[in-house]
Amino acid sequence: MKIELNENKVYFNNGSLKKEIHPFWLRERVDGDEFLDKGTQQRLFDPTSLDNEISINKANINEKFLEIDFNDGVSSKIEINKIAQEFSSEDTVIKPITKIKWDSTLKDIKNFKYQDNFFESKEMYDLLVSFYKYGFVVIKDIPTEDNFIVKFANSIGSVRRTNFGEYFDVKSKPNPNDLAYTSLALAPHTDNPYRNPVPCIQLLHCIVSEVSGGLSTLVDGYTVTEDLKTENPEFYKILSEVKVKFKFIDKDVVLEDWSELIKLNDDKSLKQIRFSPRLDFVPILEKEKLDLYYRARKKLSEMYNSDKYRIEFKLEEKDLMMMDNYRLLHGRTAYKTSEGNRFLQGCYIDYDSTEGKLRHLKRKYNL
Ligand SMILES: [Fe+2]
Repeated sequence: MKIELNENKVYFNNGSLKKEIHPFWLRERVDGDEFLDKGTQQRLFDPTSLDNEISINKANINEKFLEIDFNDGVSSKIEINKIAQEFSSEDTVIKPITKIKWDSTLKDIKNFKYQDNFFESKEMYDLLVSFYKYGFVVIKDIPTEDNFIVKFANSIGSVRRTNFGEYFDVKSKPNPNDLAYTSLALAPHTDNPYRNPVPCIQLLHCIVSEVSGGLSTLVDGYTVTEDLKTENPEFYKILSEVKVKFKFIDKDVVLEDWSELIKLNDDKSLKQIRFSPRLDFVPILEKEKLDLYYRARKKLSEMYNSDKYRIEFKLEEKDLMMMDNYRLLHGRTAYKTSEGNRFLQGCYIDYDSTEGKLRHLKRKYNL
């Protein structure tokens, strides 16, 4: 990309395309102590209060800088490099990490190990990249003192509190308000589909594991829905079009949210899956449409529950799993309370936590 000048107009030229850069765009980006706070890189002026009729009186390229005198009396040097960086309208940190589709044959995924200064380490950067590739990551050796999970969450970003509290204890208990708090098997599901917004990432920390069962199960919803798209396009289509209601009722809260089971981005790529067939309510649609919807949901459920896609592993004491609740489904096998105790703690964080940390570490290590 090159910056070129012609009669007080500034152009960018990427080899195949040459376009004028709007003078106002450049005026918004003036550098210098009186215009920009050095620490935060936030503007010290409000560009919406400027006159729209901004033009350039004089422009000059001086090595790495573009020097401009604007018609409102402001002169500035703008780093050409900085301008070039802005020509990408896409996120250049998270989006380029290619998701790796996986199924039950997934092997040898790297586990990470907790150590001092973990959250500021290069290891943390690698962990987050791995998380974005596979949708989950396991970290060994996490201290099990009470609530360390909250410290962990707050060291990556900020814990996402819900009406279950800052964190939740997963163990069997009398009169549970959710099947998670029993020793029964849990089929693959996504968490909290009834919240707006749905928590993005679940953290689960194993504190005590004295039972032989209670294996963690994970399914890559990305792999499954991509396979569904290829094998049954009409099923994929209806599941990505019909919005259903998800509902959770407790004594002092009623949570409801509407969404497709397969939610797509504007470019038709996968944005989010929700799956929790005890909590979803499809509206009354035409009989033929519902007929197709029910067949599609059944197929999707069979795929999510199939051995072909599920991995099973035991979370050992001190293991912490971090999983993408918009991409993966999770569950567990049953266990026997007579064998001993099983105690996990869970909490949520949102994508701003992992994205913010990843961008920070990329900047810190110049990666
Ligand atoms: Fe869950």
